[in-house]
Amino acid sequence: SGRFTYDPGFTSTASCESKITYIDGDEGVLLHRGYPIEQLSEQSSFMEVAYLLLRGELPTPDEHDDFVRTISRHTMVHEQLAMFYRGFRRDAHPMAIMCGVVGALSAFYHDSTDINDPAQRLIASHRLIAKMPTIAAMAYKYAVGQPFLYPDNSLSYTGNFLRMTFGVPAEQYEVNPVVEKALDRIFILHADHEQNASTSTVRLAGSSGANPFACMAAGIACLWGPAHGGANEAALNMLREIGRPERIPEFIARAKDKNDPFRLMGFGHRVYKNYDPRATVMQKTVREVLSALGVDDPVFEVALRLEELALSDDYFAEKKLFPNVDFYSGIILSAIGFPTTMFTVLFALARTVGWVAQWNEMIEDPEQKIGRPRQLYTGATTRDYIPLDKR
Ligand code: CMC
Repeated sequence: SGRFTYDPGFTSTASCESKITYIDGDEGVLLHRGYPIEQLSEQSSFMEVAYLLLRGELPTPDEHDDFVRTISRHTMVHEQLAMFYRGFRRDAHPMAIMCGVVGALSAFYHDSTDINDPAQRLIASHRLIAKMPTIAAMAYKYAVGQPFLYPDNSLSYTGNFLRMTFGVPAEQYEVNPVVEKALDRIFILHADHEQNASTSTVRLAGSSGANPFACMAAGIACLWGPAHGGANEAALNMLREIGRPERIPEFIARAKDKNDPFRLMGFGHRVYKNYDPRATVMQKTVREVLSALGVDDPVFEVALRLEELALSDDYFAEKKLFPNVDFYSGIILSAIGFPTTMFTVLFALARTVGWVAQWNEMIEDPEQKIGRPRQLYTGATTRDYIPLDKR
């Protein structure tokens, strides 16, 4: 009609103003509240980054301790929540379980319905950040048939998650500091990425004033797709399928073939038309983790060679397709012991911080209204109803 801008996929529409994350896709720059992702992932911790995203500034030592204590206080989930898991098949995809269980939290926290009260919003945010590791670890435990483990608040956020996932009641679990550091870094690298599909979903769901726990379930659903967070699972499955470097050209040829729906998973990005800075850190971390754990995964060789061959290919150069955050992460997660089905769950756990920060920012923004895109109607014009027996 000309009254609306047609912008499928919102490639050129800014849906909001934001002070949280800055991306320069041409230069491969990612800043959280002004701090470069390289510095945060090398020197900071996930808890500190969570505070930064949520509150706008890095915490002082006292603020940091206070925040960690507050999050620890909320790590347990209601005992009744465990029953939700038992309703799922054992072979349910853990992302399906996450959608259901996180959505169900909305039924446990009716106080969160007053989203205009900043104190209530903060409590809901803390609860979400604190409970995601517990809920994610329970999804894993349910699949493998081991007992759920209660959180241990003497451990770090990430150490506690590792113990709840891989520990068993019969034995003392020792957190491996290399693994703890690597996973914490992976969490930092996934914490926020401005208005990506799942974050936009959380904002859109939240724009109606919906319960924040239900909004996060919407974000989890969106993240699950292979074009988004599901790419980390798809990328490792692809690398394993390729199996050895000699088979790479065949897969590159398929990715270039317009008649073949196959894409190189972990490659390409809507915003980055340069190397994803998170992939650079991730690649370095793979080396550190594999050597520290003494793991020799042939899939890393395949990944490095695939990257090299793709980057020297005209197709990928012209379309500016580079490895993204999901290309290397799976190799680390697999070395740590996570099954591929848990990869996107870990992404969801970390991105929860971004989701709650963006959700809070939206509610506080006086310019925000309910998200309601328009359309260009291309269907039938007015016509008369014909009774069933006359058709
Ligand atoms: N392999 C082969 N060709 C590709 C790929 C790829 N991975 N990605 C994009 N292209 C081609 C695509 O076919 C299109 O070609 P043409 O212009 O000839 O039609 C062109 O590049 C532009 O792609 P697009 O789909 O229009 O771009 P987009 O911005 O809509 O999509 C993307 C971005 C990330 C969904 C896409 O690159 C993709 O599907 N990548 C694989 C999945 C993936 O790794 N996703 C993770 C994204 S990063 C973090 C996250 O969100 O989890």
